[in-house]
Amino acid sequence: MSPVCQPAPKLVCHCLQVSEDDLLSAVERGQLRTVQEISQVTGAGEGCTACHRRIIQYLRQRTCRT
Ligand code: FES
Repeated sequence: MSPVCQPAPKLVCHCLQVSEDDLLSAVERGQLRTVQEISQVTGAGEGCTACHRRIIQYLRQRTCRT
């Protein structure tokens, strides 16, 4: 039996290993609107802070869709 290969989840925050799926579902569930709120819920952004710009881009994309 060969192993089933699945694509690795796209990480938004490498320090805390928070994936795009984790971030987007947290935003949807919690109506999160700031990097600080996302950090409190998912942990993303609590390390080196290099992902803050990416998190802000996700928040802006979500704002544009609603
Ligand atoms: S990559 Fe998110 S805190 Fe470092």
